Amino acid sequence: MSELLALRPGPAISVIVPCYNERDNVVPMVAALDAALAGLAWEVIFVDDNSPDDTSVTARSISHEDARVRCIRRVGRRGLASAVIEGALSASGALIAVLDGDLQHDETRLPAMFAALEAGADIAVGSRHVGGGSSQGLSSPLRVWLSSEGIKLAQRLTGTSLNDPMSGFFALRRTLFDQLAPRLMGQGFKILLDLVLAAQTPLKLAEVPYQFRPRRAGESKLDALVIFQFAGLLIDKVLHGVLPLRFMGFAAVGGVGILINLLVLLSAQHLGMTFAAAQTLGTVVAMVANFQMNNSLTYRTVRLKGRRYWLGLLLFMLVCGLGGIANIGIARTLHADSITAAAAGTAGALIGVVWNYAMSATLVWRTQ
Ligand code: GDD
Ligand code: MN
Repeated sequence: MSELLALRPGPAISVIVPCYNERDNVVPMVAALDAALAGLAWEVIFVDDNSPDDTSVTARSISHEDARVRCIRRVGRRGLASAVIEGALSASGALIAVLDGDLQHDETRLPAMFAALEAGADIAVGSRHVGGGSSQGLSSPLRVWLSSEGIKLAQRLTGTSLNDPMSGFFALRRTLFDQLAPRLMGQGFKILLDLVLAAQTPLKLAEVPYQFRPRRAGESKLDALVIFQFAGLLIDKVLHGVLPLRFMGFAAVGGVGILINLLVLLSAQHLGMTFAAAQTLGTVVAMVANFQMNNSLTYRTVRLKGRRYWLGLLLFMLVCGLGGIANIGIARTLHADSITAAAAGTAGALIGVVWNYAMSATLVWRTQ
């Protein structure tokens, strides 16, 4: 028995399973691990983001019968990558394995992955795209296309040689995870890519083929938003983290807001409103639309609801109103100082968006 898998009173292997609405998959998952890891000392940590289907209640009730089963229930937060990080940070085993909670990843490949680690790999990656692997379980031709294009893009932008860089199925030593953890972004779906990119020296990666199974119960959570976040993650890497991801989302929403503002302005004028009235209407509509978009996209994980939604909207309009005044004031002053109108306008707008972002982040969504 090797050092990594040595039998001690505590677990040698910690399996991290992120879950959201996977109630019906929890029991089969534990049974599958029990079979695949027979003879090894393991624990499984389900990390559930307070699923409405009460996944955590099911997981907890198994843990009463089986001490190898644990559950972290996170309240007020969402996200696959951050769930995996939190689970892994709470692990006690020397080895960490990450596995989806819907049985799409083939747990019988885990021993082969541990063997790869013992043979010297830093991360053993379950791969659908090396000999013997397959991604048949992808639910639609669109998913197949998105997956293969995403892989190519990720390989090009990040310089990784992984054939399946989007895999959510992998294993590594806990010491390595602990070392990389402070540099992880923890946003979105792609925790493996996040880990690989966080390493300052290239990691030794071993790919272990597996066949991606169809989902057993429940439904996939990958949607347009996840793809939007993934794009943000790649851009962030290209820019070496100079701009915070949230800032980019905020600026993108701002761009859409300008279009909305213009559209309302022109239509209202067309309907006979004065310029001043039409522009006021355009600004207000754009602000409300921006608030709504930021709340459901940029700040999705800390989304405001109920009374806090309306208070947030009020505060947002106040903050952006001030930002608008600052924008105009700065542009005027610069322009009076014989700077061209275009340059003065751009400077004003840039300062305006930075102000709006900083104030929204600290006051409205309070993330900083
Ligand atoms: N805690 C938590 N919070 N878990 C989540 C969240 C979340 O916000 N979103 C998804 N999960 C869990 C799901 O419950 C599931 O166990 C796992 O993460 C993967 O989510 P799916 O919705 O089943 O993903 P998929 O099948 O579309 O994506 C698979 O393929 C990707 C590559 O194309 C997964 O294997 C991904 O890990 C992989 O990157
Ligand atoms: Mn899945």
